Amino acid sequence: MTVLTTSPSWHQLAAHHARIKDIHLRTLFAEDPGRAERFVAEGAGLFLDYSKNRITDETLALLLRLAEERGVTARRDAMFAGEKINVTERRAVLHIALRAPRGVRIDVDGADVVPDVHRVLDAMAAFAARVRDGRFTGHTGRRIRNVVNIGIGGSYLGPEMAYRALRPFSDRSMTFRFVANVDGADFTEATHDLDAAETLFIISSKTFTTLETMTNAAAARTWLVQKLGAEAAVARHFAAVSTNLPGVTAFGIDPTNTFGFWDWVGGRYSMDSAIGLATMIAVGPENFGAMLAGFHAMDEHFRTAPPARNLPLLLGLLTVWYNNFFGAQTVGVMPYAAPLARLPAYLQQLQMESNGKHVDLDGRVVVYQTAPIIWGEPGTDGQHSFYQLLHQGTKLVPCDMIGFCRPLSPLAAQHDLLMANLFAQAEALAFGKTAAELTAEGSPDFQTPFRVTEGNRPTNVILADTLDPATLGSLVALYEHSVFTQGAIWAIDSFDQWGVELGKVLAGRIIPELGHGAEPELTHDASTNALIRHYRKRRG
Ligand code: F6P
Repeated sequence: MTVLTTSPSWHQLAAHHARIKDIHLRTLFAEDPGRAERFVAEGAGLFLDYSKNRITDETLALLLRLAEERGVTARRDAMFAGEKINVTERRAVLHIALRAPRGVRIDVDGADVVPDVHRVLDAMAAFAARVRDGRFTGHTGRRIRNVVNIGIGGSYLGPEMAYRALRPFSDRSMTFRFVANVDGADFTEATHDLDAAETLFIISSKTFTTLETMTNAAAARTWLVQKLGAEAAVARHFAAVSTNLPGVTAFGIDPTNTFGFWDWVGGRYSMDSAIGLATMIAVGPENFGAMLAGFHAMDEHFRTAPPARNLPLLLGLLTVWYNNFFGAQTVGVMPYAAPLARLPAYLQQLQMESNGKHVDLDGRVVVYQTAPIIWGEPGTDGQHSFYQLLHQGTKLVPCDMIGFCRPLSPLAAQHDLLMANLFAQAEALAFGKTAAELTAEGSPDFQTPFRVTEGNRPTNVILADTLDPATLGSLVALYEHSVFTQGAIWAIDSFDQWGVELGKVLAGRIIPELGHGAEPELTHDASTNALIRHYRKRRG
């Protein structure tokens, strides 16, 4: 593939950027109020208003041409066809198969994977139903009331985010906890008030080798056996989700409580696989199915909607526009929905582990920026902490603002306050307030320079009717495919994560060096050696 920066539309975009970069959104709207109707797109239950971006019709045409030149749709079709587009691991990338309805055919190496997906979904549904209705009991015959998911990264962020988002749909008689960190405080805090006789641990790990998860799983086994006084209790209190079934068996988890998935599902794309078992137990198989249908609806939208109306494509291209032409380093994601508090953390892994890459598909070091840093907090909380920088700071931070037209809470009047704030922030960020306006409003002269709010800060506003399972599915798939689009433009492998390996290897080397008793000679750099010595001395 040709180097991105040599493609004709890249040059045209650079020249176009130089022409329009200083045009204010106020001017763009004054000269073309129709953009509010034109720069919108709808699909899979989501409505995207991208009119408050620093773009014109020409920008959009050039970005769409860039997508064409970079073969985004061909790459998308290759993904949907099960081709091994994860080139560095020689794997297919088929999270879209996890939500394919029965009867759809998707082949990997000549074999249809969809029947297998549904076989696992059916097994999960049967297990979840038995846990929920009390037929699956613990070692002492008591009903399971607590579910503790032990996993990290993609085996944690999705289940926790989805549980929080869909809590109103969950079984309120049950408690759900999520343990990820190898810091023992995480496990201790999650279990301190739980009755072991009523607790089910789900060990979620694609590889079943991850240090944090294996350590916490061992802690859980010790805790359970100590509390219930019988090794045999493990069989009734542990379930596992993994692609490494021999690893699960070696750990001693009953194969009938084990749910598999496949190497063509990336960890950060796995919340709708068996990794979602905790989510399914919480909200029930039917709601989980509705979430999968939401994912699938967005998959179909991405696959079939024309480029100019294709939500993930547009969102991905706009991210490229700010990242590569305006030099924006970050993207803020602000869900105006308290239950989506963990969405920014979820999207951090999705975007930054997928597209935080420094070489292209041919192994050449890239000469352009790849993934932006994703961050965010729910509105309105963020307004009272970091929005000051968004409005008046020196950095350009494009933001996605996500809101819902109907509340799930019975406090409906508060929902209007919430949404008023979303609309107000997007308006203030775009249009700001000039010195002349401030003076007309009676601002004292000495304060005016400090109160001027420049505006011209871009936002995407994403609206849906209500935060239900289907909407959550389509929202997550929207971002999955936006990340895909960006990776395709940058010609990187969005589905490997080699960068996380070095730290794991070095930690493995340091662990025995911290060991109590013999303290082996240290052969790291001077700083690491000194830190380890300090720790050894001070740890008590
Ligand atoms: O170290 C990064 C990573 O491999 C992620 O890609 C993954 O989601 C996470 O660790 C957990 O891995 P596993 O599910 O294999 O325990």
